[in-house]
Amino acid sequence: MKGAGAGNMSSGRFSHLLRGVWFLWQALLVVGTGTKLWEVPTGPFASSSNFSESLQWEPHCQYYNIQDRVRITADIPPQLDGTWVSIRCEVRPGPEFLTRSYTFHPNRHFQALQHYYTDSSCEDPSYSLIVRGKIRLRQASWITHGATEAEHHLSKVAIVVHSLAAKQRLASRLPSTCVGLSLGRVVPGKLYELYNTRAGRGCLEALGFSMMEMGLVRVETQYHSHGGKVQELFLGDIHTDWTQRTQYKPTGYQQPLQNAMHHIHPCPVCALVYRSSDQRPPVLPRSPATYLSLGGRWVSQRCETRPNVLFLTRDFTFDPQQHAWEGIYRHYSDPACSQPTFTLRASGHYAQGNPSPKISGASEFVFKVTQVRATAMGEPTAKLLNSTKPGKCGRARGWEVGIEQDLTPTDGCTVLGIKLPHKEYELFKIELDHRKHPLLFIGERPTDGSSPDRPLRRPTSFQAPMVLCSGGSTQAARSGFNSKQVQLAASGTERLPQLVLLVFGSVLCGWLCVY
Ligand SMILES: *[C@@H]1O[C@H](CO)[C@@H](O)[C@H](O)[C@H]1NC(C)=O
Ligand SMILES: *[C@@H]1O[C@H](CO)[C@@H](O)[C@H](O)[C@H]1NC(C)=O
Repeated sequence: MKGAGAGNMSSGRFSHLLRGVWFLWQALLVVGTGTKLWEVPTGPFASSSNFSESLQWEPHCQYYNIQDRVRITADIPPQLDGTWVSIRCEVRPGPEFLTRSYTFHPNRHFQALQHYYTDSSCEDPSYSLIVRGKIRLRQASWITHGATEAEHHLSKVAIVVHSLAAKQRLASRLPSTCVGLSLGRVVPGKLYELYNTRAGRGCLEALGFSMMEMGLVRVETQYHSHGGKVQELFLGDIHTDWTQRTQYKPTGYQQPLQNAMHHIHPCPVCALVYRSSDQRPPVLPRSPATYLSLGGRWVSQRCETRPNVLFLTRDFTFDPQQHAWEGIYRHYSDPACSQPTFTLRASGHYAQGNPSPKISGASEFVFKVTQVRATAMGEPTAKLLNSTKPGKCGRARGWEVGIEQDLTPTDGCTVLGIKLPHKEYELFKIELDHRKHPLLFIGERPTDGSSPDRPLRRPTSFQAPMVLCSGGSTQAARSGFNSKQVQLAASGTERLPQLVLLVFGSVLCGWLCVY
C-alpha cells in the first residue's frame, strides 16, 4: 500500500495534519473546561448517566427546514432491543456490497444477518452470513462523544452460499477447509458453520470478517413534526484499509440501520431486508437510471461524526459550467452539532473523469482546493489561532470570533493542518431517496487520515449522503451526471482547461482529506 517517496511525504503531511486537529481539540478541551460539553461519564453507567441529548435539527437549507422539523434524542446507554435493517444497498470499503438485518434480544444475545452481493445495486446475492453472539454495553465513549462502548462475544458464524459462481469466488479467498466446511463439497442454499467457540478465526479473517463494528453503538430517535418517529442504530465504522479491518477499534460510524418498526416511509428495501432469511437473501429492485447534475447546493442531512473526534456538517455548491466548487465545513465540539468551534470555507475546481470501474453508477472525479477561509466560532478557537506565529495561519493577531480570515496567503494553516494547494482523487454517486429526492454520495476519507492524493488511493466507499437543497434539477433533461463533463471535454473548447487541471493541478490538499 505504501509508495516510496510520495507516500511518506503525504503520510507525514497527514500525521502533521492530524496532530493539528488533535492539538486544537486538546487546546479547546483545556480552555473549554467548566462547560458541560466536556464532561463525559467515565465508569460503567450510573443511574444518573441516563441522559439524552436533544436538538432541533435545522439543516442550513430552507427547503428542508420547512419540510422536516425534527427533534432528535440519543440516550446513553442506548436501547438496542429489536430488529434493525439496511435502508439501501450498502457499500463497504473494498468495495463490498451488502444488506444487514441485526436483531438484539433483551438478554443481550444478538443475531446479525449479513447478505453479500456481487453488484452495487444488491441484485445478485453471493453469500449470507449468520452471526450469533452476545453484546455488553460498557460505558459512554471518551473518544467519540455521544457513543457507547460495547464488548461482544461471538458464539457462532455460519455461511450460506447462493450460487456456484459465488462458491468459486469464495474458493479463491477461503482456506480449503473451514470448520465443518470443505469448500469443494459446498452446496448452494445449505448452511455451513464457519466459526464456533471451539475453532479458530482463520476462515473469518480470510473473509475480512469481524464484528468490531459492535464496539461503538449509538441510537438516535427522530421525532418528526407530523408525528412520525424514526430510530437509527449507528455501529462502528469499517477501516478503509482491508488489512486493518479485523483489528480496528472504531471511533466513527457506518451508515445507520433503521428500526424495523420505526423507519422512514416508504422504505421498500427495509421490508425486503426485514423479511429475508439466510436461505432467501433480499434481492433489491434495480434503481432506475438517474440522470442528475451535480450542479446546485448540497447539504448534510445530519450532524456527522468522523473518526478521531470530529463533528461537522458539510455544505457544498457545484457549478458544472465553471467546473468550480465551494465547500463549507462547520465544525462542532458536540455530537448534536450545537456548539460551533470553527468553520472552513474551501473552494477550487474539479473535473469529472470516467464512470467508476468498481462501483456501477458512480463516477470518478479530481478535485483541487485552491483557497481556504476560516472563521473561529468561539473564543477558545479564536485565542488559539491568534497565538500562531506570523505567516503560519492567516493574518497573525488578526483573529476575532465570527470574523472570516483567508488562509490562502499563508498557504494554509499549520495548526489546523491545512496545506494549500491540494488535489484529491474522488468517487461520487447520485441516487434518489424514498421521496425521489436526489442524494449525493462523496467518497469516504481513508480511516488512517491519509489523503486520496493518487488514483490508487481513490475511495471505494462513501460518506453519509448529502441532500440537494437548491439550484439542482431532478429532470432527466439536459445532461446526465455521468456524461456531462465528459461531453464538455470532448466538445473542444472545454478540453484544454480540463487537461491543465488534471496535469498541472499538482500538490493541493492535505487537510481536505480528513474531511
Ligand atoms: C432514561 O430516562 C427516560 C426518561 O427520563 C426513560 O424514559 C428511560 O426509560 C430511561 N432509560 C433507562 C435505560 O433507564
Ligand atoms: C488577537 O490579538 C489581538 C492583538 O493582540 C487582540 O487585539 C485581539 O483581541 C485578539 N483576539 C482574541 C480573540 O483574543
